[in-house]
Amino acid sequence: MLNSPQTASPLLAARQLGKTVKTGTEQLTILHDIEFSLPAGESLAIIGTSGSGKSTLLALLAGIDQPSHGDVQLDGQSLAALDEDGRARLRGQLAGFVFQSFQLLPDFTALENVLVPLELHGVADATARATHWLERVGLGARLDHTPRQLSGGEQQRVALARAFAGAPRIVFADEPTGSLDTATGAHIADLMFELNAAAGTTLVLVTHDPKLAARCSWQLQLQGGHQIALHPNTAPDGWPA
Ligand SMILES: Nc1ncnc2c1ncn2[C@@H]1O[C@H](COP(=O)(O)OP(=O)(O)OP(=O)(O)O)[C@@H](O)[C@H]1O
Ligand SMILES: [Mg+2]
Repeated sequence: MLNSPQTASPLLAARQLGKTVKTGTEQLTILHDIEFSLPAGESLAIIGTSGSGKSTLLALLAGIDQPSHGDVQLDGQSLAALDEDGRARLRGQLAGFVFQSFQLLPDFTALENVLVPLELHGVADATARATHWLERVGLGARLDHTPRQLSGGEQQRVALARAFAGAPRIVFADEPTGSLDTATGAHIADLMFELNAAAGTTLVLVTHDPKLAARCSWQLQLQGGHQIALHPNTAPDGWPA
């Protein structure tokens, strides 16, 4: 493969990945032949204008949505070989998620929002772990607060704690700073990259923000569902800094 992250065993790989949807009587191809490999511990920014297919691609990579052709390999496991339960199990074991709209449970406290997924996956010491991660994101004094008692930036901190508390190998983030003002978004981005580096997690980040994209080790650019560029952010020898 040309101009693409190479490794013997990538954590995430897309092979001829595409998505066609039906709109009325028409078949509309919204993603065409996406192809890349991402080594463990690296970060990939998916960039492109609104409607270019970023969220669709993220959902396919995470096994939330199913491709019309091609395949995704997550930690060496072909998603096409799994049924929906199998994909959900793999996601639970490997992946954390951060969304633009936070997607916290509105009637649950910050602690419960981090705790519930840990308990669902049978994690030992779930309460201690959830508390630790909320402290880690600076919300140790807000454990009992519900989302509506928290600012947008604080809610996204809870979402970061939830994403990282499960000790994921990969975090998928779709416009994680998109609902926040510039300064708050910058703080959240700093925190996300800091947590990611400390945990050695692989990161796939959808963003409109060139500055945020430039902080990832690779950029994949979409246009009209086509992968028009894939390049490292760049050391002189072509390997990510
Ligand atoms: N199920 C669907 N049926 C029909 N069209 C769809 C479907 N899902 C996505 N699309 C279309 O595919 C294109 C890509 O959508 P997608 O949400 O992936 O874009 P995006 O790059 O994430 O945009 P944004 O930056 O606005 O979030 C859009 O034109 C969208 O309308
Ligand atoms: Mg989107």
